[in-house]
Amino acid sequence: MAVSAYTRTHYCGEPTPALVGSELTLMGWVNKRRDLGALIFVDLRDRSGIMQVVFDQGDLADEVFALAETIRSEYVLAVKGLLVLRDEETINPALPTGTIELRVKEFKIFSKAETPPFAIDDDTNVGEALRLKYRYLDLRRPEMQQKLLTRHRIVKLARDYYDENGFLEIETPTLGKSTPEGARDYLVPSRVHPGKFYALPQSPQLYKQILMVSGFDRYFQVARCYRDEDLRADRQPEFTQLDIEMSFVDEDDVITVNEGFIQRVFKEVVGVDVQLPLPRMKWQEAMDRFGSDKPDTRFGLELIDVSDIAKETSFKVFSGAVEAGGSVRAINCKDSVDKLARREIDALVEFTKQYRAKGLAWISLTKDGEIKSAITKFMTEEQVKALFERCGAEPNDTLFFVADAKNTVVYAALGALRLELARKFHLIDENRWDLLWVTDFPQFEYDEEEGRFVAMHHPFTMPKDEDVPYLLTDQGRVHAKAYDIVLNGTELGGGSIRIHDPEIQTTMFKALGFTEERAQESFSFLLNAFKYGTPPHGGMAFGLDRLVMLLTKSKSIRDVIAFPKVQNASCPMTEAPGTVEDKQLRDLHISVEEDV
Ligand code: AMO
Ligand code: AMP
Repeated sequence: MAVSAYTRTHYCGEPTPALVGSELTLMGWVNKRRDLGALIFVDLRDRSGIMQVVFDQGDLADEVFALAETIRSEYVLAVKGLLVLRDEETINPALPTGTIELRVKEFKIFSKAETPPFAIDDDTNVGEALRLKYRYLDLRRPEMQQKLLTRHRIVKLARDYYDENGFLEIETPTLGKSTPEGARDYLVPSRVHPGKFYALPQSPQLYKQILMVSGFDRYFQVARCYRDEDLRADRQPEFTQLDIEMSFVDEDDVITVNEGFIQRVFKEVVGVDVQLPLPRMKWQEAMDRFGSDKPDTRFGLELIDVSDIAKETSFKVFSGAVEAGGSVRAINCKDSVDKLARREIDALVEFTKQYRAKGLAWISLTKDGEIKSAITKFMTEEQVKALFERCGAEPNDTLFFVADAKNTVVYAALGALRLELARKFHLIDENRWDLLWVTDFPQFEYDEEEGRFVAMHHPFTMPKDEDVPYLLTDQGRVHAKAYDIVLNGTELGGGSIRIHDPEIQTTMFKALGFTEERAQESFSFLLNAFKYGTPPHGGMAFGLDRLVMLLTKSKSIRDVIAFPKVQNASCPMTEAPGTVEDKQLRDLHISVEEDV
């Protein structure tokens, strides 16, 4: 690498004391500058680290030293000099290169820099809005560079691992066709087909299934996906999947190959030995115990079904919920009565209401064995005793209850309360990596708004063999050959065995309320492809961003994406999305209505 007669010999963080006495050339940014008059110290930074560089008036010609005096933060330099050991008193044990420094013989300023809006170091306490506006500066910070380095290593590991296991990386289009189901699409207007639109892929799902029809047998892709949905801390409108599909397989095969990848990643990225096979938990058990299909198993606070006891009480909220086909479930928050002020309990009641719970009932058993509660007056002594026994209540425990005619509400509210209590009482061991598969998902979930069953995963998911006969008659009992992998309560990935039998697929569309025309219109290419010989197949996709986020212990998915979007799906740096010129709109046959 040669620029203006300078040839870089090392990155700033590379040299060790073994190189003392050598002449080195480094290039990088000025991290810090200390001017002691006849001596100027500069910390020179590149993506590998920092080297202390010394400009000594005694060593340099006057005009060269005068130029050194103009150096400021974030200037970009080439420096050539002699590597020496630092004086004892200037050794910096906090720096890997802290025992050595470069005594400059000659140097060049490649470019100057304005004073950055925030300091380029990991301790800066700047707001994210400013960081994202000046993302190029934010990405200079060592912490951010490390995160993107880890991301690179994970992608490389994935390519190596899947290649070693016989997978081919094949790219699929990003200009595709809008299909119903799933999240909202991002649309791209067609110039040559007025009034028609491409859709950016929400995943390569249909293409990868067609690749199986074509005989590629094992496929993977690092695939960019687009979903126009509400953003959260672990969601982005465009994100990356590690997408996988395999032929002639059943659930076990897909799970085994992919947990092998997870084992490799954990070993090589965080040095953790993951024991295989990973635990598996059926969806129903996950819901019953944790109120969630992505259970965080690092702590207890499990849900306890008390419906049978609650049903007999004269507390109408409880008995009514059970009679209506729902349930009453509890969480025992151990050793908490003396730590929960009344207003904190009230806040928890409000918290659960966000999850559509109509309320949160509670019973406190004080250290002295006194019962405090607004609901025990509706119960006999035996009923209270039975609740205590079922919940394993001891002095200083608080029992929380949610009752609802809909089990989904009970699960959602207590599942969320469980996480909230764990955060509040610091019950989560941040050093744990709890991985598990959740299996046996329901095939359908009832969509209240649409008044019909919709696919819980997607319409191409194979039902469990024994449930196929019930596709049209008893959707509620049908379970799917679908699985999710969960890490510390985050859904890391998911997939399923697909339907390869056109007859079952037709039945599935019927069950989902598709007319034959609509199914043909949306998926004719897939349905046609399936007529010509389809292997049994299945696969899954990991959320790459989430995997990197968790492995780097980042708080937000945005920290592991070079140029992420913010909450309202805009990019503070480029200010995308933006307006376009009228001519562009005319070319696309689009007119924009104001104030829609
Ligand atoms: P699914 O929709 O479950 O499955 O997506 C797979 C994984 O992708 C990640 N993910 C996201 N990450 C960031 N931002 C988002 N908005 C986002 N949405 C999803 C999650 C999720 O587990 N085609 C199927 C896979 C298959 O069946 O093979 C699919 O897309 O980690
Ligand atoms: P109420 O009879 O509505 O005043 O409620 C008495 C207590 O029961 C309050 O603490 C409410 O928060 C709680 N409660 C109300 N509805 C429910 C419900 N569906 N599940 C659990 N607790 C509830």
